[in-house]
Amino acid sequence: MRIIKVFDTTLRDGEQSPGATMNVEEKLKIARQLARLNVDIIEAGFPITSQGDFDAVKRIADEVKGVTVCGLARAVEKDIDRVAGAVKNAESGRIHIVIATSDIHLKYKLKMDREAVLAMSVKAVRHARKYTNDVEFSAEDATRSDWDYLCRVTEDVIKAGATTVNIPDTVGYTVPQEYSQLIAYLMDRVPNVDKAVISIHCHNDLGLGVANSISAVLSGAGQVECTINGIGERAGNASLEEIVMALKTRPKFFDADTRINTREIYKTSKMVSRITGMTVQPNKAIVGDNAFAHESGIHQDGFLKERSTYEILNPEEIGIPKSKLILGKHSGRHAFKDRLSAIGFQSLTEEEINKAFERFKALCDQKKHIFDEDIEALITDEITKESNVYSFSSLYVVSGTGQKPAAKIKLSIRGEMREMEGTGDGPVDAVYNAIKELTGTKSELKKYEIKGLTGGTDALGEVMVLLEEDSRIVRASASDPDIIVASAKAYINALNKLAVAGRTVEKGV
Ligand code: KIV
Ligand code: ZN
Repeated sequence: MRIIKVFDTTLRDGEQSPGATMNVEEKLKIARQLARLNVDIIEAGFPITSQGDFDAVKRIADEVKGVTVCGLARAVEKDIDRVAGAVKNAESGRIHIVIATSDIHLKYKLKMDREAVLAMSVKAVRHARKYTNDVEFSAEDATRSDWDYLCRVTEDVIKAGATTVNIPDTVGYTVPQEYSQLIAYLMDRVPNVDKAVISIHCHNDLGLGVANSISAVLSGAGQVECTINGIGERAGNASLEEIVMALKTRPKFFDADTRINTREIYKTSKMVSRITGMTVQPNKAIVGDNAFAHESGIHQDGFLKERSTYEILNPEEIGIPKSKLILGKHSGRHAFKDRLSAIGFQSLTEEEINKAFERFKALCDQKKHIFDEDIEALITDEITKESNVYSFSSLYVVSGTGQKPAAKIKLSIRGEMREMEGTGDGPVDAVYNAIKELTGTKSELKKYEIKGLTGGTDALGEVMVLLEEDSRIVRASASDPDIIVASAKAYINALNKLAVAGRTVEKGV
């Protein structure tokens, strides 16, 4: 059986999802989890775009072992030098070079002709090879490029030293049959194709990212590029968990597998969703809340008689915890720690666990049953506190019929305690006006959503906000038994994300 390499780009293409910006610590946490998931390559960022991206790639390369760490560069020396600097301490480092090859991109974006792009590609690969013998070349918008030109580019970059050549469906335009034909065409026509791994990278604009990816595997692609939960530019990238489980579930059909430790999938999905604030839709394949829920009576009956009647995957294989309702006020620290690990928080320090345990005990006084979602929420609050510019301290709100809603909020701003009062059309508006005044933010609230995390009137309320400032969009969420407090915390979390250094050149490619 062929082993297909899994190249995870959650931290680069995934981060290009609107609002999914992550700070260095958050990226490091995800990278460690990706290493536990056993991906082959982590694309950790695009170092030339900002100091923050450079630092993230460097920290991951320095600290995360047992996996290849890669950074993206345009086909220019300064980008390549920057990636080389960021991955120089990696156990195994890769430089990933991208330049467009489609006529549309050449004419309107690059304003170059085919020969010039070919020469630039070769030069860039040669330059990268001075630093490492693991160089990936991506022909951006490959699926809208001329196939014979793509063959020439592939042949020449392999000659120049590229060890992986990626054929991205950058705009999610192709369809499975065509994409598999394109990969087969390259495998057939490029004389030195056996000297490199052919990689694929699909976007989901037509909802075909995963279908296209697995069809390319059937034609000989040896590496799949994907993201956790399918997050990514526009409609996202092909989802890692879906590709991996498709290959695993149909081994005879694909005769191909990956090295992924599937039992880490669920935890990874939860972590990425929590950190990016991008919730997973309930009906999402593999990791959605309903992926293993049987509603119809006939299905339930069949399932209870024999699981395989209606379930093609075993939830345990994906690492989905067996029970959801678990802890309460009599649960001890040990059970709490076990549960933390089961839902994806394995790398907490003892101090973080102790603080979270204290908050868990306090929550038990407010709520009888503590669900995984509750634990996740309180831990996320606890561990995101450290590196924050703003942190919530207290809130007092007056609201009701016949009076103007008013709020008094206390925040710590870079360690200094400050207080402000505000009024508004409703209690949330009053709180947000007070926070705006106190922090002097210019951001605009683009979206506000609220939901109960679990059942019951004592459920934690989760608030998600989307803020925009100077065309940067961030998304953040927070939860609390008091929905006005949750609203305040979500807003503050978003302001903290905005406070992370902005990018210096245009984001992404
Ligand atoms: O979609 C794309 O073409 C990319 C490249 C950088 C591989 O993300
Ligand atoms: Zn992409």
